[in-house]
Amino acid sequence: MLTRIMNGNKIALKLEKKIKKKIKIRKKNKKRIPGLAVIIIGNNISSKIYVKKKKKACKKLGFISKIWKFKNNIHENKILKLIQNLNYNNTIDGILIQLPLPNNFNLTKIMNSILPDKDIDGFHPYNIGCLCQKKPKLRPCTPQGIIKLLKEYKIKIKGMHAVIIGASNIVGRPMSLELLLKGCTTTTTHKFTKNLKKHIKNADIIIIAIGKPKFLKGKWIKKGAIIIDVGINKLKNGKIIGDVDFKSMKNKASYITPVPGGVGPMTVLTLLKNTLKACEKYHEN
Ligand code: GUN
Repeated sequence: MLTRIMNGNKIALKLEKKIKKKIKIRKKNKKRIPGLAVIIIGNNISSKIYVKKKKKACKKLGFISKIWKFKNNIHENKILKLIQNLNYNNTIDGILIQLPLPNNFNLTKIMNSILPDKDIDGFHPYNIGCLCQKKPKLRPCTPQGIIKLLKEYKIKIKGMHAVIIGASNIVGRPMSLELLLKGCTTTTTHKFTKNLKKHIKNADIIIIAIGKPKFLKGKWIKKGAIIIDVGINKLKNGKIIGDVDFKSMKNKASYITPVPGGVGPMTVLTLLKNTLKACEKYHEN
């Protein structure tokens, strides 16, 4: 079995061109350029890298990006006040709080203070609820990006058994909702799951996001399974690797996403897509 590598960089570049075109038309029609506000609190190294990537992508596609950086000891009320201001700032279409937040912050209170129609991360209970009820509005970026990547490779997932490894609010849970929406039968596994390997063996498609380098082995999967690796793990030597033991998947998986260059670029692209959508759909006037 030939294992095909899904090139997220290439697909994201192709989709970027479409967004660029839309921005060009907006400018021609004297319409406002979409604006993204990013709030980052604390010193998480991965978060800093992600925010840099988001800023770079905004610049490349001609979006406005405004970034607020705060130390761990900033008072929560100041963040809530800033979000309130951004909620009513009509140059801003999307508000993103980079996660994880330091432990001293009330995550739910902060996330829920973002207006749902500026919640381009799709994490607000309103947006998650809409996705859950098969009426998606703004949808979480990574799962949406993965669905798009599968579509671009013309992979028909309807009816497949999807096994999700990891049940986080950012990836695992919304991923299971997206896959359900596409007609998959879904199994969401987590740290309390018994006999994980039995579930893995049954999967037509596996999405893994647990932050454990090289966790998923080729010998565990069914021949021809599709492997989507959301993990980003930095080794001591500085190398970035995923949650999948990539080499062991050769000639066993039908498709696989590499790390880096698989899911990551799709997530960033989807964030901009969501920001443009929020601008066009919710804040045009
Ligand atoms: N941290 C890791 N992934 C994400 C994401 O998609 N959105 C936000 N806000 N934080 C993250």
